[in-house]
Amino acid sequence: MLRTHTCGELNPKNISEKVTLCGWVQKSRDLGGMTFVDMRDRYGITQLVFNMQTNAKLCEKARKLGREFVISVSGIVEERSNKNLKIPTGEIEITVDKFDILSKSKLPPFTIEDNTDGGEELRMKYRYLDLRRNPLRKNLELRHRMTIETRNYLNSQKFIEIETPYLIKSTPEGARDFVVPSRMNEGEFYALPQSPQTFKQLLMIAGYDRYYQLVKCFRDEDLRADRQPEFTQIDCEMSFVTQDDILNTFEELIKHLFKKVKNINVEDFPIISYDYAMKYYGTDKPDIRFEMKFVELNNLAKGSGFKVFDDTESVVGICAEGCGDYSRKQLDKLTDFVRKPQIGAKGLVYVKYNEDGSFKSSVDKFFDQKALKTWSEAFNAEPGDLLLILSGESGHTGKALCELRLEMGNRLELRDKNKFCPLWIVDFPLLEWDDETNKYHAMHHPFTSPKAEDIQLLNSEPGKARANAYDLVINGVEIGGGSIRIFNKELQKKMFKALGFTEEQAQEQFGFLMNAFEYGAPPHGGIALGFDRLVALFGGSDSIRDYIAFPKNNAGRDVMIDSPSAIFAEQLKELKLKIEE
Ligand code: AMO
Repeated sequence: MLRTHTCGELNPKNISEKVTLCGWVQKSRDLGGMTFVDMRDRYGITQLVFNMQTNAKLCEKARKLGREFVISVSGIVEERSNKNLKIPTGEIEITVDKFDILSKSKLPPFTIEDNTDGGEELRMKYRYLDLRRNPLRKNLELRHRMTIETRNYLNSQKFIEIETPYLIKSTPEGARDFVVPSRMNEGEFYALPQSPQTFKQLLMIAGYDRYYQLVKCFRDEDLRADRQPEFTQIDCEMSFVTQDDILNTFEELIKHLFKKVKNINVEDFPIISYDYAMKYYGTDKPDIRFEMKFVELNNLAKGSGFKVFDDTESVVGICAEGCGDYSRKQLDKLTDFVRKPQIGAKGLVYVKYNEDGSFKSSVDKFFDQKALKTWSEAFNAEPGDLLLILSGESGHTGKALCELRLEMGNRLELRDKNKFCPLWIVDFPLLEWDDETNKYHAMHHPFTSPKAEDIQLLNSEPGKARANAYDLVINGVEIGGGSIRIFNKELQKKMFKALGFTEEQAQEQFGFLMNAFEYGAPPHGGIALGFDRLVALFGGSDSIRDYIAFPKNNAGRDVMIDSPSAIFAEQLKELKLKIEE
Protein backbone atom coordinates (compact mmCIF):
# COMPACT_ATOMS: atom_id res chain seq x y z
CA MET A 1 0.00 0.00 0.00
CA LEU A 2 1.18 3.53 -0.71
CA ARG A 3 -0.41 4.68 2.54
CA THR A 4 -0.56 3.54 6.15
CA HIS A 5 -3.86 5.26 6.97
CA THR A 6 -6.72 7.07 5.29
CA CYS A 7 -7.50 10.77 5.75
CA GLY A 8 -10.48 9.99 7.95
CA GLU A 9 -9.11 7.80 10.69
CA LEU A 10 -6.32 9.44 12.68
CA ASN A 11 -7.17 10.70 16.17
CA PRO A 12 -5.40 11.50 19.46
CA LYS A 13 -4.68 7.79 19.99
CA ASN A 14 -2.28 7.96 17.03
CA ILE A 15 -0.26 10.87 18.41
CA SER A 16 3.52 10.42 17.84
CA GLU A 17 2.98 7.72 15.20
CA LYS A 18 4.76 8.00 11.90
CA VAL A 19 2.21 7.75 9.10
CA THR A 20 1.91 8.02 5.35
CA LEU A 21 -1.29 9.34 3.77
CA CYS A 22 -2.40 9.88 0.18
CA GLY A 23 -5.13 12.16 -1.07
CA TRP A 24 -6.25 15.35 -2.77
CA VAL A 25 -5.45 18.90 -1.73
CA GLN A 26 -8.74 20.40 -0.58
CA LYS A 27 -7.21 23.77 0.23
CA SER A 28 -4.08 25.32 1.68
CA ARG A 29 -3.48 28.32 3.91
CA ASP A 30 -0.20 30.10 4.03
CA LEU A 31 0.39 31.86 7.36
CA GLY A 32 3.94 33.02 6.76
CA GLY A 33 5.92 30.75 9.03
CA MET A 34 3.50 27.86 8.64
CA THR A 35 1.56 26.38 5.74
CA PHE A 36 -1.54 24.30 6.44
CA VAL A 37 -2.97 21.95 3.86
CA ASP A 38 -6.28 20.10 4.14
CA MET A 39 -5.85 16.74 2.49
CA ARG A 40 -8.95 14.81 1.48
CA ASP A 41 -9.83 11.30 0.46
CA ARG A 42 -13.06 9.29 0.48
CA TYR A 43 -12.85 8.86 4.24
CA GLY A 44 -12.29 12.40 5.45
CA ILE A 45 -9.95 15.33 5.77
CA THR A 46 -6.64 15.53 7.63
CA GLN A 47 -4.71 18.72 8.32
CA LEU A 48 -1.06 18.78 7.24
CA VAL A 49 1.44 21.27 8.68
CA PHE A 50 4.61 22.50 7.00
CA ASN A 51 6.94 24.56 9.13
CA MET A 52 9.17 27.19 7.49
CA GLN A 53 11.61 27.19 10.38
CA THR A 54 12.19 23.47 10.63
CA ASN A 55 11.93 22.56 6.95
CA ALA A 56 11.98 25.63 4.66
CA LYS A 57 12.47 23.65 1.45
CA LEU A 58 9.47 21.42 2.05
CA CYS A 59 7.38 24.39 3.08
CA GLU A 60 8.25 26.25 -0.13
CA LYS A 61 7.19 23.16 -2.10
CA ALA A 62 3.93 22.92 -0.18
CA ARG A 63 3.11 26.55 -0.93
CA LYS A 64 3.03 25.69 -4.62
CA LEU A 65 0.40 22.99 -4.20
CA GLY A 66 -2.80 23.69 -6.12
CA ARG A 67 -6.32 22.56 -5.34
CA GLU A 68 -6.96 18.90 -6.21
CA PHE A 69 -3.28 17.96 -6.60
CA VAL A 70 -2.82 14.33 -5.58
CA ILE A 71 -0.07 14.00 -2.98
CA SER A 72 1.53 11.44 -0.75
CA VAL A 73 2.82 12.69 2.61
CA SER A 74 4.74 11.15 5.48
CA GLY A 75 5.09 12.68 8.91
CA ILE A 76 4.29 12.49 12.59
CA VAL A 77 0.79 12.73 14.09
CA GLU A 78 0.69 15.63 16.55
CA GLU A 79 -1.97 17.14 18.78
CA ARG A 80 -3.53 20.25 17.25
CA SER A 81 -3.50 23.44 19.27
CA ASN A 82 -6.52 24.79 17.42
CA LYS A 83 -8.94 21.83 17.55
CA ASN A 84 -11.90 21.34 15.22
CA LEU A 85 -14.31 19.07 17.07
CA LYS A 86 -16.75 18.98 14.14
CA ILE A 87 -14.68 16.40 12.24
CA PRO A 88 -13.29 13.08 13.56
CA THR A 89 -9.70 14.03 12.68
CA GLY A 90 -10.03 17.56 14.05
CA GLU A 91 -7.87 17.01 17.14
CA ILE A 92 -4.71 16.04 15.29
CA GLU A 93 -2.50 17.19 12.44
CA ILE A 94 0.47 15.72 10.57
CA THR A 95 3.77 17.50 10.74
CA VAL A 96 5.07 16.55 7.34
CA ASP A 97 8.70 15.60 6.77
CA LYS A 98 8.35 14.20 3.26
CA PHE A 99 5.89 14.56 0.44
CA ASP A 100 5.50 13.75 -3.23
CA ILE A 101 3.19 15.13 -5.84
CA LEU A 102 1.63 12.05 -7.45
CA SER A 103 -0.50 13.98 -9.90
CA LYS A 104 -1.08 17.65 -10.69
CA SER A 105 -4.52 19.13 -11.29
CA LYS A 106 -5.84 21.96 -13.36
CA LEU A 107 -7.92 24.45 -11.42
CA PRO A 108 -11.29 22.63 -11.05
CA PRO A 109 -14.22 24.35 -12.81
CA PHE A 110 -16.17 24.53 -9.53
CA THR A 111 -15.33 24.31 -5.87
CA ILE A 112 -15.26 20.77 -4.52
CA GLU A 113 -16.96 21.50 -1.24
CA ASP A 114 -20.30 20.59 0.33
CA ASN A 115 -21.86 23.78 -1.02
CA THR A 116 -20.40 24.16 -4.46
CA ASP A 117 -20.60 27.14 -6.79
CA GLY A 118 -20.99 24.90 -9.86
CA GLY A 119 -24.25 24.81 -11.84
CA GLU A 120 -26.00 21.52 -12.60
CA GLU A 121 -24.84 21.24 -16.22
CA LEU A 122 -21.20 22.00 -15.37
CA ARG A 123 -21.21 19.47 -12.55
CA MET A 124 -22.71 16.83 -14.85
CA LYS A 125 -19.95 17.49 -17.38
CA TYR A 126 -17.31 17.00 -14.70
CA ARG A 127 -19.22 14.33 -12.80
CA TYR A 128 -15.98 12.71 -11.57
CA LEU A 129 -15.20 15.98 -9.76
CA ASP A 130 -18.72 16.34 -8.42
CA LEU A 131 -18.49 12.78 -7.09
CA ARG A 132 -15.55 13.90 -4.93
CA ARG A 133 -17.95 16.09 -2.93
CA ASN A 134 -19.29 14.78 0.36
CA PRO A 135 -23.02 14.92 -0.42
CA LEU A 136 -22.64 12.73 -3.51
CA ARG A 137 -20.17 10.44 -1.82
CA LYS A 138 -22.63 9.91 1.02
CA ASN A 139 -25.41 9.15 -1.48
CA LEU A 140 -23.34 6.47 -3.19
CA GLU A 141 -22.35 5.00 0.16
CA LEU A 142 -26.02 4.87 1.12
CA ARG A 143 -26.78 3.10 -2.15
CA HIS A 144 -24.01 0.60 -1.48
CA ARG A 145 -25.29 -0.12 2.04
CA MET A 146 -28.78 -0.65 0.69
CA THR A 147 -27.46 -3.03 -1.97
CA ILE A 148 -25.77 -5.11 0.72
CA GLU A 149 -28.80 -5.16 3.03
CA THR A 150 -31.12 -6.05 0.16
CA ARG A 151 -28.92 -8.99 -0.76
CA ASN A 152 -28.54 -9.99 2.90
CA TYR A 153 -32.27 -10.14 3.40
CA LEU A 154 -33.12 -11.91 0.14
CA ASN A 155 -30.26 -14.39 0.54
CA SER A 156 -31.52 -15.18 4.04
CA GLN A 157 -34.93 -15.96 2.52
CA LYS A 158 -33.43 -18.52 0.10
CA PHE A 159 -33.62 -16.26 -2.95
CA ILE A 160 -30.94 -16.85 -5.55
CA GLU A 161 -29.50 -14.04 -7.66
CA ILE A 162 -29.44 -14.91 -11.33
CA GLU A 163 -28.38 -12.64 -14.19
CA THR A 164 -30.60 -12.40 -17.24
CA PRO A 165 -29.51 -11.09 -20.64
CA TYR A 166 -29.50 -7.47 -21.76
CA LEU A 167 -29.69 -8.18 -25.48
CA ILE A 168 -33.21 -9.52 -25.79
CA LYS A 169 -36.43 -8.83 -27.56
CA SER A 170 -39.15 -6.45 -26.51
CA THR A 171 -40.75 -6.87 -23.06
CA PRO A 172 -43.80 -4.68 -22.89
CA GLU A 173 -43.71 -2.55 -19.72
CA GLY A 174 -45.44 0.41 -21.30
CA ALA A 175 -42.45 2.41 -22.54
CA ARG A 176 -40.56 2.39 -25.83
CA ASP A 177 -37.63 0.03 -26.24
CA PHE A 178 -34.02 1.01 -26.77
CA VAL A 179 -32.85 -1.12 -29.67
CA VAL A 180 -29.44 -2.41 -30.71
CA PRO A 181 -28.75 -3.40 -34.31
CA SER A 182 -27.28 -6.84 -34.85
CA ARG A 183 -24.25 -6.96 -37.17
CA MET A 184 -24.47 -10.71 -37.64
CA ASN A 185 -28.19 -10.69 -38.38
CA GLU A 186 -28.70 -8.06 -40.99
CA GLY A 187 -31.73 -5.83 -40.57
CA GLU A 188 -32.51 -7.30 -37.15
CA PHE A 189 -32.38 -5.70 -33.75
CA TYR A 190 -32.12 -6.64 -30.13
CA ALA A 191 -34.16 -4.69 -27.61
CA LEU A 192 -32.69 -3.77 -24.24
CA PRO A 193 -34.94 -5.10 -21.45
CA GLN A 194 -37.50 -2.73 -19.95
CA SER A 195 -37.37 -5.35 -17.20
CA PRO A 196 -36.37 -9.03 -16.98
CA GLN A 197 -40.07 -9.93 -16.76
CA THR A 198 -40.28 -12.84 -19.19
CA PHE A 199 -36.91 -14.27 -18.13
CA LYS A 200 -37.81 -14.36 -14.47
CA GLN A 201 -41.01 -16.18 -15.35
CA LEU A 202 -38.98 -18.68 -17.40
CA LEU A 203 -36.73 -19.15 -14.35
CA MET A 204 -39.81 -20.14 -12.35
CA ILE A 205 -40.69 -22.69 -15.01
CA ALA A 206 -37.08 -23.86 -14.75
CA GLY A 207 -37.66 -24.52 -11.06
CA TYR A 208 -35.65 -21.68 -9.41
CA ASP A 209 -38.55 -20.89 -7.12
CA ARG A 210 -37.09 -17.74 -5.52
CA TYR A 211 -35.15 -15.47 -7.88
CA TYR A 212 -33.83 -11.98 -7.49
CA GLN A 213 -31.53 -9.64 -9.31
CA LEU A 214 -30.32 -6.09 -8.85
CA VAL A 215 -30.69 -5.33 -12.49
CA LYS A 216 -30.42 -2.50 -14.97
CA CYS A 217 -33.60 -1.80 -16.95
CA PHE A 218 -33.90 0.43 -19.99
CA ARG A 219 -36.92 2.49 -20.97
CA ASP A 220 -37.17 5.11 -23.65
CA GLU A 221 -39.69 7.42 -22.02
CA ASP A 222 -39.97 11.08 -21.04
CA LEU A 223 -37.69 11.81 -18.15
CA ARG A 224 -38.55 13.34 -14.79
CA ALA A 225 -36.88 13.70 -11.43
CA ASP A 226 -37.81 10.10 -10.60
CA ARG A 227 -37.17 8.60 -14.03
CA GLN A 228 -33.97 7.73 -15.84
CA PRO A 229 -33.67 5.92 -19.18
CA GLU A 230 -31.54 3.30 -17.46
CA PHE A 231 -32.34 2.54 -13.87
CA THR A 232 -32.01 -0.31 -11.40
CA GLN A 233 -34.64 -2.65 -10.07
CA ILE A 234 -34.63 -5.10 -7.21
CA ASP A 235 -36.37 -7.65 -9.38
CA CYS A 236 -37.92 -10.72 -7.75
CA GLU A 237 -40.09 -13.71 -8.55
CA MET A 238 -41.47 -16.54 -6.42
CA SER A 239 -43.26 -19.82 -7.13
CA PHE A 240 -46.02 -21.52 -5.17
CA VAL A 241 -47.11 -18.36 -3.41
CA THR A 242 -50.21 -16.25 -2.96
CA GLN A 243 -50.39 -12.47 -3.29
CA ASP A 244 -50.27 -12.22 0.51
CA ASP A 245 -47.03 -14.20 0.62
CA ILE A 246 -45.43 -11.75 -1.78
CA LEU A 247 -46.70 -8.69 0.07
CA ASN A 248 -45.43 -10.12 3.37
CA THR A 249 -42.02 -11.06 1.98
CA PHE A 250 -41.38 -7.61 0.51
CA GLU A 251 -42.91 -5.72 3.39
CA GLU A 252 -40.28 -7.51 5.49
CA LEU A 253 -37.55 -6.50 3.03
CA ILE A 254 -38.55 -2.84 3.31
CA LYS A 255 -38.77 -3.06 7.10
CA HIS A 256 -35.34 -4.74 7.17
CA LEU A 257 -33.87 -1.90 5.08
CA PHE A 258 -35.41 0.81 7.27
CA LYS A 259 -34.13 -0.91 10.41
CA LYS A 260 -30.62 -1.70 9.20
CA VAL A 261 -29.95 1.44 7.21
CA LYS A 262 -31.88 4.12 9.09
CA ASN A 263 -32.61 2.43 12.40
CA ILE A 264 -36.31 3.14 11.93
CA ASN A 265 -39.09 0.72 12.85
CA VAL A 266 -41.90 1.20 10.37
CA GLU A 267 -45.45 0.11 11.18
CA ASP A 268 -47.23 -2.67 9.30
CA PHE A 269 -48.18 -1.41 5.86
CA PRO A 270 -51.86 -0.67 5.30
CA ILE A 271 -53.38 -2.42 2.26
CA ILE A 272 -55.93 -0.42 0.31
CA SER A 273 -57.66 -1.08 -2.97
CA TYR A 274 -57.05 0.90 -6.13
CA ASP A 275 -60.69 2.05 -6.05
CA TYR A 276 -60.35 3.30 -2.48
CA ALA A 277 -57.13 5.16 -3.32
CA MET A 278 -58.72 6.86 -6.31
CA LYS A 279 -61.84 7.78 -4.35
CA TYR A 280 -60.13 9.22 -1.29
CA TYR A 281 -56.82 10.50 -2.69
CA GLY A 282 -57.43 10.84 -6.45
CA THR A 283 -54.28 8.84 -7.19
CA ASP A 284 -52.94 5.30 -7.06
CA LYS A 285 -49.89 6.55 -5.18
CA PRO A 286 -51.25 8.43 -2.20
CA ASP A 287 -49.01 10.17 0.29
CA ILE A 288 -50.51 8.97 3.57
CA ARG A 289 -48.15 10.89 5.82
CA PHE A 290 -51.23 13.07 6.31
CA GLU A 291 -55.00 12.49 6.19
CA MET A 292 -56.95 15.17 4.32
CA LYS A 293 -59.00 12.55 2.46
CA PHE A 294 -61.42 13.59 -0.28
CA VAL A 295 -65.06 14.07 0.66
CA GLU A 296 -67.59 13.75 -2.11
CA LEU A 297 -70.34 16.41 -2.00
CA ASN A 298 -72.54 15.48 -4.98
CA ASN A 299 -75.65 14.86 -2.88
CA LEU A 300 -75.23 17.94 -0.73
CA ALA A 301 -74.04 20.42 -3.32
CA LYS A 302 -76.10 19.71 -6.39
CA GLY A 303 -79.55 21.08 -7.10
CA SER A 304 -79.22 24.47 -5.42
CA GLY A 305 -79.12 26.48 -8.61
CA PHE A 306 -75.34 26.82 -8.73
CA LYS A 307 -74.80 25.79 -12.34
CA VAL A 308 -71.13 24.95 -11.94
CA PHE A 309 -72.07 22.20 -9.49
CA ASP A 310 -75.43 21.25 -10.99
CA ASP A 311 -74.07 20.53 -14.47
CA THR A 312 -71.06 18.54 -13.42
CA GLU A 313 -70.15 14.95 -12.75
CA SER A 314 -68.28 15.34 -9.50
CA VAL A 315 -68.15 17.83 -6.62
CA VAL A 316 -65.41 16.89 -4.21
CA GLY A 317 -63.23 18.60 -1.65
CA ILE A 318 -60.72 18.46 1.17
CA CYS A 319 -60.59 20.02 4.59
CA ALA A 320 -57.45 21.97 5.44
CA GLU A 321 -57.29 22.01 9.20
CA GLY A 322 -56.65 25.37 10.80
CA CYS A 323 -56.64 27.29 7.51
CA GLY A 324 -59.97 29.07 8.11
CA ASP A 325 -58.10 32.35 8.56
CA TYR A 326 -56.61 32.29 5.05
CA SER A 327 -56.60 35.78 3.54
CA ARG A 328 -58.08 36.76 0.21
CA LYS A 329 -54.56 36.79 -1.19
CA GLN A 330 -53.79 33.27 0.04
CA LEU A 331 -57.06 31.97 -1.41
CA ASP A 332 -56.34 33.69 -4.73
CA LYS A 333 -52.96 31.96 -4.79
CA LEU A 334 -54.63 28.59 -4.29
CA THR A 335 -57.08 29.39 -7.08
CA ASP A 336 -54.16 30.30 -9.36
CA PHE A 337 -52.51 27.03 -8.35
CA VAL A 338 -55.46 24.84 -9.37
CA ARG A 339 -55.89 26.82 -12.59
CA LYS A 340 -52.34 26.15 -13.77
CA PRO A 341 -52.49 24.23 -17.06
CA GLN A 342 -50.76 21.20 -15.54
CA ILE A 343 -53.44 21.05 -12.81
CA GLY A 344 -56.30 22.05 -15.07
CA ALA A 345 -59.19 22.97 -12.73
CA LYS A 346 -61.45 25.83 -13.82
CA GLY A 347 -61.80 27.33 -10.37
CA LEU A 348 -61.85 26.71 -6.66
CA VAL A 349 -64.72 26.99 -4.20
CA TYR A 350 -63.81 27.66 -0.60
CA VAL A 351 -65.74 27.59 2.65
CA LYS A 352 -64.19 29.15 5.73
CA TYR A 353 -65.49 27.70 8.98
CA ASN A 354 -65.11 30.73 11.22
CA GLU A 355 -64.11 30.40 14.86
CA ASP A 356 -67.55 31.78 15.87
CA GLY A 357 -69.26 28.85 14.11
CA SER A 358 -70.44 30.86 11.09
CA PHE A 359 -69.38 30.18 7.50
CA LYS A 360 -67.98 32.41 4.79
CA SER A 361 -67.75 30.94 1.33
CA SER A 362 -67.19 31.88 -2.29
CA VAL A 363 -70.66 30.49 -3.05
CA ASP A 364 -72.67 32.31 -0.33
CA LYS A 365 -75.16 33.43 -2.99
CA PHE A 366 -76.24 29.84 -3.58
CA PHE A 367 -75.75 28.14 -0.25
CA ASP A 368 -77.01 29.41 3.10
CA GLN A 369 -75.39 28.84 6.49
CA LYS A 370 -77.45 25.70 7.07
CA ALA A 371 -76.30 24.14 3.81
CA LEU A 372 -72.68 25.01 4.54
CA LYS A 373 -73.06 23.52 8.01
CA THR A 374 -74.09 20.17 6.45
CA TRP A 375 -71.04 20.34 4.21
CA SER A 376 -68.76 20.95 7.18
CA GLU A 377 -70.30 17.93 8.90
CA ALA A 378 -69.54 15.76 5.87
CA PHE A 379 -65.89 16.83 6.25
CA ASN A 380 -65.89 16.44 10.03
CA ALA A 381 -64.61 20.01 10.01
CA GLU A 382 -64.07 22.12 13.11
CA PRO A 383 -64.27 25.89 13.52
CA GLY A 384 -61.04 27.35 12.12
CA ASP A 385 -60.89 24.91 9.19
CA LEU A 386 -61.03 25.64 5.48
CA LEU A 387 -62.92 23.54 2.92
CA LEU A 388 -61.52 23.55 -0.61
CA ILE A 389 -63.84 22.19 -3.28
CA LEU A 390 -63.39 21.38 -6.96
CA SER A 391 -65.89 20.19 -9.52
CA GLY A 392 -65.85 18.73 -13.01
CA GLU A 393 -65.39 15.43 -14.77
CA SER A 394 -64.46 12.84 -12.10
CA GLY A 395 -61.06 11.77 -13.44
CA HIS A 396 -59.73 15.30 -14.00
CA THR A 397 -61.21 16.65 -10.79
CA GLY A 398 -59.69 13.81 -8.75
CA LYS A 399 -56.26 14.49 -10.26
CA ALA A 400 -56.50 18.24 -9.66
CA LEU A 401 -57.70 17.77 -6.08
CA CYS A 402 -54.87 15.30 -5.50
CA GLU A 403 -52.39 18.03 -6.50
CA LEU A 404 -54.16 20.55 -4.28
CA ARG A 405 -54.06 18.09 -1.37
CA LEU A 406 -50.30 17.65 -1.82
CA GLU A 407 -49.86 21.41 -2.09
CA MET A 408 -51.76 21.92 1.17
CA GLY A 409 -49.71 19.10 2.70
CA ASN A 410 -46.57 21.06 1.76
CA ARG A 411 -47.94 24.37 3.02
CA LEU A 412 -48.94 22.84 6.32
CA GLU A 413 -45.59 21.03 6.55
CA LEU A 414 -47.31 17.66 6.80
CA ARG A 415 -44.88 15.98 4.40
CA ASP A 416 -41.94 15.45 6.72
CA LYS A 417 -38.99 13.88 4.88
CA ASN A 418 -38.04 11.95 7.98
CA LYS A 419 -41.41 10.27 8.30
CA PHE A 420 -42.03 7.17 6.18
CA CYS A 421 -45.49 5.81 5.47
CA PRO A 422 -45.46 2.81 3.14
CA LEU A 423 -48.64 1.15 1.92
CA TRP A 424 -49.81 -1.44 -0.57
CA ILE A 425 -52.30 -0.67 -3.30
CA VAL A 426 -54.09 -3.81 -4.53
CA ASP A 427 -56.89 -4.83 -6.92
CA PHE A 428 -55.80 -2.71 -9.87
CA PRO A 429 -57.90 -2.83 -13.02
CA LEU A 430 -56.43 -5.38 -15.43
CA LEU A 431 -56.78 -3.20 -18.50
CA GLU A 432 -56.89 0.47 -19.33
CA TRP A 433 -58.54 1.96 -22.39
CA ASP A 434 -56.22 4.01 -24.56
CA ASP A 435 -57.99 6.64 -26.65
CA GLU A 436 -54.98 7.17 -28.89
CA THR A 437 -54.63 3.58 -30.10
CA ASN A 438 -58.29 2.75 -29.54
CA LYS A 439 -57.25 -0.37 -27.71
CA TYR A 440 -57.01 -1.71 -24.22
CA HIS A 441 -53.55 -1.95 -22.83
CA ALA A 442 -52.41 -3.84 -19.75
CA MET A 443 -52.37 -1.61 -16.71
CA HIS A 444 -49.41 -3.55 -15.27
CA HIS A 445 -48.21 -5.84 -18.05
CA PRO A 446 -49.80 -8.57 -20.19
CA PHE A 447 -48.52 -11.40 -17.99
CA THR A 448 -50.57 -10.27 -14.99
CA SER A 449 -53.39 -12.63 -14.08
CA PRO A 450 -56.96 -11.42 -13.81
CA LYS A 451 -58.74 -12.19 -10.55
CA ALA A 452 -60.25 -15.67 -10.89
CA GLU A 453 -63.78 -14.33 -10.48
CA ASP A 454 -63.22 -11.72 -13.21
CA ILE A 455 -61.84 -14.01 -15.94
CA GLN A 456 -65.22 -14.31 -17.60
CA LEU A 457 -65.33 -10.50 -17.93
CA LEU A 458 -62.48 -10.70 -20.46
CA ASN A 459 -65.02 -11.79 -23.10
CA SER A 460 -67.83 -9.40 -22.17
CA GLU A 461 -66.57 -6.30 -20.34
CA PRO A 462 -62.75 -6.46 -20.29
CA GLY A 463 -62.50 -2.97 -18.80
CA LYS A 464 -64.20 -4.17 -15.62
CA ALA A 465 -61.81 -7.05 -14.91
CA ARG A 466 -59.54 -6.58 -11.91
CA ALA A 467 -55.98 -7.87 -11.68
CA ASN A 468 -53.97 -9.70 -9.08
CA ALA A 469 -51.61 -6.73 -9.17
CA TYR A 470 -50.17 -4.58 -6.43
CA ASP A 471 -47.97 -1.53 -5.98
CA LEU A 472 -45.79 -0.50 -3.09
CA VAL A 473 -46.09 3.22 -2.41
CA ILE A 474 -44.04 5.19 0.12
CA ASN A 475 -44.70 8.89 0.81
CA GLY A 476 -46.52 9.34 -2.49
CA VAL A 477 -43.82 7.65 -4.59
CA GLU A 478 -44.45 4.45 -6.52
CA ILE A 479 -41.57 2.36 -5.26
CA GLY A 480 -42.56 -0.96 -6.74
CA GLY A 481 -45.11 -2.99 -8.60
CA GLY A 482 -45.84 -6.61 -9.26
CA SER A 483 -48.47 -9.23 -9.81
CA ILE A 484 -49.48 -12.86 -9.70
CA ARG A 485 -48.86 -14.14 -13.22
CA ILE A 486 -50.79 -16.07 -15.77
CA PHE A 487 -49.18 -19.53 -16.08
CA ASN A 488 -51.60 -21.15 -18.46
CA LYS A 489 -51.32 -20.87 -22.24
CA GLU A 490 -55.03 -20.55 -22.92
CA LEU A 491 -55.52 -17.73 -20.43
CA GLN A 492 -52.43 -15.94 -21.73
CA LYS A 493 -53.84 -16.21 -25.26
CA LYS A 494 -57.13 -14.78 -24.04
CA MET A 495 -55.27 -11.88 -22.46
CA PHE A 496 -53.39 -11.09 -25.66
CA LYS A 497 -56.69 -11.20 -27.53
CA ALA A 498 -58.22 -8.69 -25.12
CA LEU A 499 -55.19 -6.48 -25.78
CA GLY A 500 -55.92 -6.54 -29.51
CA PHE A 501 -53.17 -8.98 -30.59
CA THR A 502 -53.99 -11.43 -33.35
CA GLU A 503 -53.15 -15.03 -32.52
CA GLU A 504 -50.19 -14.86 -34.92
CA GLN A 505 -48.82 -11.67 -33.39
CA ALA A 506 -49.09 -13.11 -29.90
CA GLN A 507 -47.37 -16.31 -30.99
CA GLU A 508 -44.63 -14.43 -32.82
CA GLN A 509 -43.80 -12.12 -29.94
CA PHE A 510 -44.48 -14.28 -26.91
CA GLY A 511 -44.70 -17.82 -28.28
CA PHE A 512 -41.54 -18.72 -26.32
CA LEU A 513 -43.30 -17.98 -23.03
CA MET A 514 -46.64 -19.51 -23.94
CA ASN A 515 -44.90 -22.64 -25.20
CA ALA A 516 -42.95 -22.84 -21.95
CA PHE A 517 -46.28 -22.80 -20.07
CA GLU A 518 -46.91 -26.21 -21.68
CA TYR A 519 -43.95 -27.83 -19.93
CA GLY A 520 -45.00 -27.70 -16.32
CA ALA A 521 -45.31 -24.06 -15.27
CA PRO A 522 -45.72 -23.51 -11.52
CA PRO A 523 -48.07 -20.84 -10.24
CA HIS A 524 -45.88 -17.80 -9.63
CA GLY A 525 -45.78 -14.10 -8.99
CA GLY A 526 -43.33 -11.37 -8.18
CA ILE A 527 -42.48 -7.74 -7.83
CA ALA A 528 -39.86 -5.20 -8.85
CA LEU A 529 -38.81 -2.31 -6.67
CA GLY A 530 -37.29 0.80 -8.22
CA PHE A 531 -33.94 0.77 -6.43
CA ASP A 532 -32.91 4.31 -7.39
CA ARG A 533 -36.22 5.65 -6.07
CA LEU A 534 -35.89 3.67 -2.87
CA VAL A 535 -32.38 4.98 -2.24
CA ALA A 536 -33.42 8.58 -3.02
CA LEU A 537 -36.33 8.22 -0.60
CA PHE A 538 -34.00 6.96 2.13
CA GLY A 539 -31.68 9.86 1.35
CA GLY A 540 -34.54 12.36 1.66
CA SER A 541 -34.57 13.53 -1.96
CA ASP A 542 -37.07 13.52 -4.84
CA SER A 543 -34.39 13.29 -7.48
CA ILE A 544 -32.88 9.90 -8.26
CA ARG A 545 -30.05 11.47 -10.25
CA ASP A 546 -28.09 12.31 -7.11
CA TYR A 547 -28.04 8.63 -6.18
CA ILE A 548 -26.69 7.36 -9.52
CA ALA A 549 -22.96 7.71 -10.17
CA PHE A 550 -23.27 8.64 -13.83
CA PRO A 551 -26.85 9.67 -14.65
CA LYS A 552 -28.34 11.19 -17.80
CA ASN A 553 -29.73 14.71 -17.90
CA ASN A 554 -33.37 15.55 -18.64
CA ALA A 555 -32.79 15.23 -22.35
CA GLY A 556 -31.45 11.70 -21.84
CA ARG A 557 -27.87 12.84 -22.50
CA ASP A 558 -24.67 12.02 -20.71
CA VAL A 559 -22.95 15.39 -21.17
CA MET A 560 -19.68 14.07 -19.75
CA ILE A 561 -19.06 11.44 -22.40
CA ASP A 562 -21.30 13.24 -24.92
CA SER A 563 -23.72 10.43 -25.55
CA PRO A 564 -25.80 9.63 -27.53
CA SER A 565 -23.66 10.57 -30.50
CA ALA A 566 -23.34 9.84 -34.19
CA ILE A 567 -21.39 6.72 -35.15
CA PHE A 568 -18.78 6.34 -37.87
CA ALA A 569 -19.95 5.74 -41.44
CA GLU A 570 -17.92 2.54 -41.29
CA GLN A 571 -19.96 1.24 -38.35
CA LEU A 572 -23.21 2.15 -40.11
CA LYS A 573 -22.05 0.27 -43.17
CA GLU A 574 -21.11 -2.77 -41.18
CA LEU A 575 -24.53 -2.75 -39.54
CA LYS A 576 -26.18 -2.19 -42.91
CA LEU A 577 -27.92 0.88 -41.51
CA LYS A 578 -28.62 3.89 -43.68
CA ILE A 579 -29.26 7.35 -42.28
CA GLU A 580 -31.56 9.40 -44.49
CA GLU A 581 -29.80 12.52 -45.79
P1 AMO B 1 -42.83 -1.59 -13.13
O1 AMO B 1 -42.88 -1.19 -14.55
O2 AMO B 1 -43.94 -1.15 -12.22
O3 AMO B 1 -42.82 -3.17 -12.99
O4 AMO B 1 -41.44 -1.14 -12.53
C1 AMO B 1 -41.10 -1.39 -11.19
C2 AMO B 1 -40.54 -0.16 -10.52
O5 AMO B 1 -39.42 0.35 -11.22
C3 AMO B 1 -39.32 1.76 -11.02
N1 AMO B 1 -39.21 2.44 -12.32
C4 AMO B 1 -38.30 3.39 -12.61
N2 AMO B 1 -37.35 3.96 -11.86
C5 AMO B 1 -36.57 4.90 -12.44
N3 AMO B 1 -36.68 5.29 -13.72
C6 AMO B 1 -37.63 4.74 -14.52
N4 AMO B 1 -37.71 5.12 -15.80
C7 AMO B 1 -38.50 3.75 -13.96
N5 AMO B 1 -39.52 3.02 -14.44
C8 AMO B 1 -39.94 2.23 -13.44
C9 AMO B 1 -40.56 2.18 -10.28
C10 AMO B 1 -41.50 1.02 -10.51
O6 AMO B 1 -42.44 0.88 -9.49
N6 AMO B 1 -41.67 -6.29 -14.49
C11 AMO B 1 -42.49 -5.48 -13.62
C12 AMO B 1 -42.43 -5.95 -12.20
C13 AMO B 1 -43.20 -7.21 -11.92
O7 AMO B 1 -44.34 -7.37 -12.41
O8 AMO B 1 -42.64 -8.04 -11.18
C14 AMO B 1 -42.02 -4.03 -13.70
O9 AMO B 1 -41.00 -3.70 -14.24
O10 AMO B 1 -40.26 2.32 -8.90
